[in-house]
Amino acid sequence: MELDGLLTWLYEAALSTNIREIEWLFPMIESLHVLAVTVFLGSIVWVDLRILGVANKDRDIRRFSKELLPITWTMFVIAVITGLALFTSNAVNYAHNIYFQFKILLLILSGINMLVFQLWFSARTEAYDPSHAARISTGNLAGMGKFRQKLHQISFFWSGKWSALLSILLWMIVIGLGQWIGFSMLPTVVR
Ligand code: HEM
Repeated sequence: MELDGLLTWLYEAALSTNIREIEWLFPMIESLHVLAVTVFLGSIVWVDLRILGVANKDRDIRRFSKELLPITWTMFVIAVITGLALFTSNAVNYAHNIYFQFKILLLILSGINMLVFQLWFSARTEAYDPSHAARISTGNLAGMGKFRQKLHQISFFWSGKWSALLSILLWMIVIGLGQWIGFSMLPTVVR
């Protein structure tokens, strides 16, 4: 199969051979991967909890997420680079591992969820304001026209809280799958 040919080529490349054969290299890269993942996810969950109104309620959400964004992106890039390095060391087996496949699928879904949130919901930041949310949930919208009331109610329910909840859930599953890859791997292909 063509894809397996490419994966075998990757497996045999000098870099992958070194990662596989130098005793301390794989654990070192994996530690870096876990460190990057921890900080990356920490920054995401922090913002998700703010959106859900669980933590950091007093902080301005736009400023808060803007401050964290450089950390999120830097750590994401490190997680992807180290993840790819780990992958190349045993490319054929990882690619055929069901947990790895699901992990990548959920990574993509989480990315789409983040994009949807950024593009669609984040403009509606007023809906995350607890006093505003309280007004809407209690139906206390006096002084607003009917159309504005409807708009505010819709924007509250589509305010991104679902997206934040989904984000936490998806990332937790990605972590679980990431862990499970190691437990379920086939023995290394010896050629
Ligand atoms: C950015 C989001 C990511 C998260 C949250 C994540 C999470 C994890 C976790 C929790 C582990 C287990 C570490 C351990 O047991 O010590 C792991 C290992 C691993 N990850 Fe990731 N990862 C991410 C991205 C990637 C990417 C983009 C790739 C490759 C394309 C990748 C490939 C791997 C590989 C090959 C392992 C080693 C599995 C093993 O044999 O133990 N990861 N990841």
